[in-house]
Amino acid sequence: MCGIIGYVGFKEAYDIIVTGLKQLEYRGYDSAGICTQHSQSLHLVKYKGRVENLQQSKIQGTLGIGHTRWATHGKPSDNNAHPFVDSQNQFSIVHNGIIENYLELKEELRKDHTQFTSDTDSEVIVHLIAKYYEGDLRDAVLKTTKRLQGSYAFCVIDKNHKEIIGARNGSPLIIGVGKNENFFASDVSAVIEYTKEVIYLNDFEIAKITKNFIDIIDFEGNNKPLAIQEVEWDIEQAQKQGYKHFMIKEIMEQPKVVENQLKVQFDFGSKPKTVHIVACGGAGFAGVLGEYLIEEISKIPTKFYHGSEFRYRKPILHEDDLVVAISQSGETADTLAAIRKAKESNTKTLAIINVVGSTIARESDDVIYTRAGPEISVASTKAFLAQILSMYQLAYALKNEVFTFQDYKEIIEQLLQLDEQIKQLAEKYFKYQNFIYIGRNRNYAIALEGALKLKEIAYIHAEAYPSGELKHGPLALVSEDMPTFAICPQDEFYEKNFSNIQEVKARNGRVISLATEGDEKINLISDDVIYIPKVDSILYPLLETVPLHLFAYHIANFRENDIDKPRNLAKSVTVE
Ligand code: F6R
Repeated sequence: MCGIIGYVGFKEAYDIIVTGLKQLEYRGYDSAGICTQHSQSLHLVKYKGRVENLQQSKIQGTLGIGHTRWATHGKPSDNNAHPFVDSQNQFSIVHNGIIENYLELKEELRKDHTQFTSDTDSEVIVHLIAKYYEGDLRDAVLKTTKRLQGSYAFCVIDKNHKEIIGARNGSPLIIGVGKNENFFASDVSAVIEYTKEVIYLNDFEIAKITKNFIDIIDFEGNNKPLAIQEVEWDIEQAQKQGYKHFMIKEIMEQPKVVENQLKVQFDFGSKPKTVHIVACGGAGFAGVLGEYLIEEISKIPTKFYHGSEFRYRKPILHEDDLVVAISQSGETADTLAAIRKAKESNTKTLAIINVVGSTIARESDDVIYTRAGPEISVASTKAFLAQILSMYQLAYALKNEVFTFQDYKEIIEQLLQLDEQIKQLAEKYFKYQNFIYIGRNRNYAIALEGALKLKEIAYIHAEAYPSGELKHGPLALVSEDMPTFAICPQDEFYEKNFSNIQEVKARNGRVISLATEGDEKINLISDDVIYIPKVDSILYPLLETVPLHLFAYHIANFRENDIDKPRNLAKSVTVE
């Protein structure tokens, strides 16, 4: 939800900011802008549309801020794009988050004759800073933060001083520590090309950076230590490396991901009475799988909640329960709110997170990092696989056993060889407008994931159901225009699934089955079959995501969609 970056140093800020914004575009991509300071004045360019639009208008200066937007208040337009400047063109800000009391603040500022140029909530910040400025930018920011309600990370510059001030409350902000140059950014990917040393700002902190100085205080004005951390990955991992899209590159990286993830240790001192799993979107389907697995394997009652529902349904939490949050970004607002809610009840929290140092990771009692590496494509693939693998690891750890899966890496390599076959299948099916996905028990979680991916990147209406639910309504939709993707491995539910597929066939439905190698019978009731290797029943979900992700990818590719940046979406959802 919006990416921000700031640079102060000795190089052209514009070049560094454009490169950084491209790395941050996954956070939002409906408009972009840059403001630099040069010859004691501010220079501003901003446009509706992608970061590449900025390339037409280079501006000078060795200090600047930039923004890539995911609209919340005010539609995407040049005027609503960040950065914003005050009426005197003295200050400029970029903001990520939501200022909840912006209407009252706007009203108050209008009484002081402030002219607004946008419909955004963010613009109030720059006018408040101008109002409170008495010669020290950081003091003005401190006073401004006292007036703001909501969540924010923002950076501000003025036309005269070679410094940038950044403030954080609820939205991510890091400092990249360089040599004769320093950076602010929403995440590490924007600065990793220049430095591997970063400081993760905490909520209620304000930092001042110049090219060779960093200073942090809290909202009460107290000094805070500089906790510099080394980033473990490098720029190559965040680049496409010859692939057409990040999504397919990330799918192809999965053998390494599972190899790394299988080495992660899960330890528990005592068994919780109940496990509550909270997550959003695709991460939520890993949670649905976790619900099945933990109950089956460790026999502990387990409940899944959508992050956005958790705190409003007043969950019954006890001190001897465990709340597990699953998140790739570690910044998802609803999942974070769930962790905070759990802490109010003194319930222990465990976060399963991909992005090191992210907010949910830092606010949870325990954190286990998934080992997927940086994931840039908005549609999650390798991180999802790491998340579902972590559900097996968690389920076994809760039983004091270690989950092992010999040859898993080789199996994933084998599954990736289905790419060409699935591409051909996608060519056959990419014009359909509606799909149904079915799967039973744990495989239902994977059906949900398959349908979400098709919606997300192919813009095809797809619904997932537990196979047995089909006849309770959705079967009415089945026709030759609405294919069914049936997940039907040879597990303990095979015969039941088989009957459900027959019900579809009997109504002229087209069926693509995901089945176990050697299963000839499935051909009798399927139009197309994708075969996956034979494994223990319980392990099939770990094999099913590769073909489903490839199917969605190739369908979206045939439809010529912008796969890595699907319309209306953003990777890190830091608003409610
Ligand atoms: C699906 C997808 C989203 C995320 C969801 C949660 O492909 O990417 O549905 O899974 O927004 O995000 P995280 O895992 O960052 O909390």
